[in-house]
Amino acid sequence: MRIEQVADASEGSSRAAELFALLSSADPGAPLGLATGATMQGLYARLTTQGFRPRCSDIFLLDEYVGLAEQSPYSFAEEIRKRFSDPLGFQGHTHVPGQGPYAGPDGNARFEQILAERGPLSVQLLGIGTNGHIAFNEPGSPADSRTREVVLAQETLTANARHFPEGFVLPTRATTQGLATIAQASTLLLLAFGPSKHEALRSGLSTVSTDHPLSALVDHPGLIIITDADLGN
Ligand code: F6R
Repeated sequence: MRIEQVADASEGSSRAAELFALLSSADPGAPLGLATGATMQGLYARLTTQGFRPRCSDIFLLDEYVGLAEQSPYSFAEEIRKRFSDPLGFQGHTHVPGQGPYAGPDGNARFEQILAERGPLSVQLLGIGTNGHIAFNEPGSPADSRTREVVLAQETLTANARHFPEGFVLPTRATTQGLATIAQASTLLLLAFGPSKHEALRSGLSTVSTDHPLSALVDHPGLIIITDADLGN
């Protein structure tokens, strides 16, 4: 594990874009693992400005809400199309857990199978929730968890309400890659900026427990954390 402390989200996004481009260039054909959410927006904007061009044929999303249409402006698939695929000219396959060929009873197993066949991902981007969730592996998720449908924690619903218009009925379930699924990537690039994320980071790094999903990944040899938190490293 490597921790890189940065001054703020702006510096962190630039550093993350630099690392993402570098890591993906080591094996340009390897698929990429993408995350969504506010934390990733600066990174995708930097990649666009730098003229980064993905050379792989497949991108895999970490998670997706259940019950939103794939083209819903609030779906993660749409977010990735808008912030990554369109601006960076990515024309390959976008694999979204629970959606398209991965809908239905065998969908999660199929997602795992295709990921295993086309992987490993050269780099998997990760954020962290204020309650410590990784992808949508909420506190309580086991380290050996796999792609599955989950119920979102109340704290997650409250935090994510900011991504939806007022009055919108938020989805309460999602399909998420499991912690063991995520751990298959060669490099995990985790970004966490702002005081609201610091406690979740500290707990995940200091206490091995299913209460802190990050703790399942701390022994991953390719874990890189970019944060403005002072973790005393
Ligand atoms: C999104 C995801 C989530 C977010 C987390 C932080 O694909 O996997 O775990 O990374 O909820 O979201 P933001 O960055 O909006 O605070």
